[in-house]
Amino acid sequence: MAAPAIAPSILSADFSRLGEEVRAVTAAGADLIHIDVMDGQFVPNLTLGPCVVSALRPHSALPLDVHLMIATPERLSEAFARAGADILTVHAEAVTHLHRTLTFIKSLGVRCGVSLVPSTDAAALEYVMDVVDLILVMTVNPGFGGQEFIPAQLEKIRRIRAMIDASKRNIALEVDGGINAQTARAAVAAGADVLVAGSAVFNGGDYAANIRSLRG
Ligand code: DX5
Ligand code: ZN
Repeated sequence: MAAPAIAPSILSADFSRLGEEVRAVTAAGADLIHIDVMDGQFVPNLTLGPCVVSALRPHSALPLDVHLMIATPERLSEAFARAGADILTVHAEAVTHLHRTLTFIKSLGVRCGVSLVPSTDAAALEYVMDVVDLILVMTVNPGFGGQEFIPAQLEKIRRIRAMIDASKRNIALEVDGGINAQTARAAVAAGADVLVAGSAVFNGGDYAANIRSLRG
């Protein structure tokens, strides 16, 4: 099994020193920087907008992996792309015309992703496999860091792995929520190739050791 890419979620970083934190996880061996955008409507929490993404852009050469947990994400996609996002992931549950939204995001010159909350079936992806670049399986209910991994999602990860292999397209399979050294192994065994981790990277302060332990 290849080692997974690690995407630290800055939701668990010190928000008073975000630039410094992004530089620190970049130096510690991260592969992507995961930025959680929440609107207080699609999820019960509120975080940051495009101006924070553009403020962070100069602090790392790594791809900025922007996870939009917001209603009608198509309205803000252009602003996030302009701010320097490399990947824009929307929730299937937050969009009516998912295929159109993904095509629009690609037209902005960035990669497009679809995320599913734990209660959404993998079948929601069936008719966007021709356009999607990244699939993000939530293994907690989105809104907060530090929650416990929901093991029933492993079956969904396996199913989506099979859908990706059958598509013969280069689609990343990312898992987000409750990732620690143990759940990381389970997610990778199920077919994940990118792991998002907030608390498991930022807790304890040794970011490089934490990232290594998630790689397995
Ligand atoms: C949750 C976010 C996650 C979260 C992960 O809504 O999408 O990215 O920050 O945090 P941990 O790794 O602590 O579960
Ligand atoms: Zn996230």
